Amino acid sequence: MNLGISGKTALITASSNGIGKSIAYTLAQEGVNVVLFARTKTKLENLTREIEAKYGVKAYAFNGDMLNENDVSQLALFLKDTFNGPDILVLNTPRPPNPLRRTVEETQSERWHEAYHNQLWSSIQLSNHVLPLMLHKGWGRIIAITSASVKQPMPHHSLSTVFRAGMTAYIKHLANEIGEKGITANCVAPALIDNSHRTGAAAYSEAQMQARKKMSPLGRIGTQEELSGVVGFLASMQAGYITGSTIMVDGGMSGSLL
Ligand SMILES: NC(=O)c1ccc[n+]([C@@H]2O[C@H](COP(=O)([O-])OP(=O)(O)OC[C@H]3O[C@@H](n4cnc5c(N)ncnc54)[C@H](OP(=O)(O)O)[C@@H]3O)[C@@H](O)[C@H]2O)c1
Repeated sequence: MNLGISGKTALITASSNGIGKSIAYTLAQEGVNVVLFARTKTKLENLTREIEAKYGVKAYAFNGDMLNENDVSQLALFLKDTFNGPDILVLNTPRPPNPLRRTVEETQSERWHEAYHNQLWSSIQLSNHVLPLMLHKGWGRIIAITSASVKQPMPHHSLSTVFRAGMTAYIKHLANEIGEKGITANCVAPALIDNSHRTGAAAYSEAQMQARKKMSPLGRIGTQEELSGVVGFLASMQAGYITGSTIMVDGGMSGSLL
């Protein structure tokens, strides 16, 4: 299927690694020029070189911190000057604080503040600066990566669930307000997606990996490509009548009918 987005420009946040990086590959494969935003300059520069060589699109590395308003406003200036704004905005975020804990043990205000900033404010701040550049274009796609926890809260994930639910509400409000400008806004809610690229304290143990597999009726972990393919579809022309929705990519983990 031709997604009809070749030649468009996408900003993908938190994209030097993992899911964000996979989304960058998927969109570039569809002929989309990509702007990658994360903190580590060298990783971004290597990735943009790889993407340009592999897919023949333009790829730009913009290093900065999503939580730093000055970095975000510099990014917005770059997007305005270079493309008169992006067509596609993918709001991927940093992870919640480590280690994961039971809700009754989540008593430290620093962890709640960190989770709020990482999971919710980072994306809203980004959107505050970048969305105004998209409104005049008559077409656009906003896709936020949240978590399947918004539908079925996972144990030890309250720091994520609480603020991802807030992000889901934010996207729904946006969808209602900007639909007439030709812009759709949706969430993709993952769970059990391969995170074997993670290192250090963020890496899952073998026992945790096995336990995650059992949470899906498919009996396996999802690939990053299975997630980023859904993002690619939501960015497509064909997805033009989907807005204000959340698409689950959780291997069937969520127990509800709808
Ligand atoms: N795997 C799953 O099943 C699953 C399920 C639900 C939700 N999620 C969520 O999906 C998101 C991506 O997961 P992942 O496994 O790909 O995470 P990851 O490997 O830790 O990647 C996170 C990315 O965010 C960037 N980043 C971190 N802090 C940043 C900041 N302050 N400003 C800008 N960029 C920043 C990192 O690059 P730099 O270090 O270079 O900045 C990196 O590129 C996370 O929020 C995760 O919680 C995943």
